[in-house]
Amino acid sequence: MKLLITGGAGFIGSHVVRLFVNKYPGYEIINLDKLTYAGNLENLKDVEDASNYRFVKGDISDLDFINKLFEKEKFNGVIHLAAESHVDRSITNPLDFVETNVIGTVNLLNAYKAYCDLSTGRFYHISTDEVYGELGDEGKFTESTPYHPNSPYSASKASSDHFVRAYGTTYNLPYVISNCSNNYGSHQFPEKLIPLFIHNIKTRKPLPVYGKGENIRDWLWVNDHARAIDVIYHNGRNGETYNIGGNNEWKNIDLIHLLCSQMDQKLNRPEGTSEQLITYVKDRAGHDFRYAIDSSKLMAELGWEPSVTFEEGLSKTIDWYLENKEWLDHVTSGEYQNYYNEQYVLR
Ligand code: NAD
Ligand code: TYD
Repeated sequence: MKLLITGGAGFIGSHVVRLFVNKYPGYEIINLDKLTYAGNLENLKDVEDASNYRFVKGDISDLDFINKLFEKEKFNGVIHLAAESHVDRSITNPLDFVETNVIGTVNLLNAYKAYCDLSTGRFYHISTDEVYGELGDEGKFTESTPYHPNSPYSASKASSDHFVRAYGTTYNLPYVISNCSNNYGSHQFPEKLIPLFIHNIKTRKPLPVYGKGENIRDWLWVNDHARAIDVIYHNGRNGETYNIGGNNEWKNIDLIHLLCSQMDQKLNRPEGTSEQLITYVKDRAGHDFRYAIDSSKLMAELGWEPSVTFEEGLSKTIDWYLENKEWLDHVTSGEYQNYYNEQYVLR
């Protein structure tokens, strides 16, 4: 099995690459990543020398590059995670999201159709529950909830989901899609809520809470998402969508209180110290109120379930950031590019 994983140097992608490289020594795994600000080869230090793993630097929105790569490599399957992934950046820079998330995905689909052996693998698009829009106080997203994206980010992911499904129908491509809720865990770029707040608490900076902090998200430990991706890639049914969630809804402000309390304990600061950093700021434009996801299809069909409670997962996550000071320093200073040059350019 020659498997292309796109976006493998990012947060979720690096967990997926690690899981596949370690679990499937007989696979040839190629990680294609542009190394944007969110991509970091330091995330993969522990697998970079594995004999079943290779890294290729490239941009999925570069049609010529993608066609040449697919023509040369003849992949059996694709797990597509590369994306612009941050809602706030999509509000200020929507075109970047169209280029990577929409055009990049269509480039991959065309190349997959033209050059891959469709009988041995599949095209797996990793997507988000944000395509379904927002919920009120009740209910959960299911696989049949109509799409209603509200941010440029979710609109671009909805569009790419539609292209994947349309290529499946029109050209008979084997595909599968999963839509997952908010992930948290190690190696997440400190722009998203949890790593940003861990970093700010550590450095005693304000914690910017959007609006009143009453928005609700479902949180899933990234390693559990990676396990879900493994079972769906191997055992999911072609042409199906699977929702993935933690059954773990938190109002932002309650999550922030829990995070502050765990951080105070771990940093040996008096209880209540971190809470003083909470600062209410102007709300995000178009801020979705609530996401909640029904994963019963995935659980019933493929036997997957989350492996940790939120308290455990959050505690492990904080520990990782506190133990990996250099990682955090590098991603916040842009220093990690030097690592790439040393490893691959000057070699
Ligand atoms: P991330 O921003 O941490 O990583 C994205 C990776 O894609 C980076 O390594 C980046 O360098 C790479 N990339 C970006 N543009 C590229 C391009 N044009 N060509 C090649 N590589 C490019 O994102 P993440 O949080 O790991 O998310 C991965 C995927 O999972 C995305 O598709 C995202 O929409 C989806 N998703 C994320 C979450 C979440 O909570 N983070 C939840 C559900 C789904
Ligand atoms: P985020 O981690 O950006 O994920 P998403 O927008 O994809 O759900 O944000 C999670 C929640 O936290 C969301 O309701 C916005 C809120 N938030 C803040 O209140 N302050 C912040 O600085 C950030 C980044 C997010």
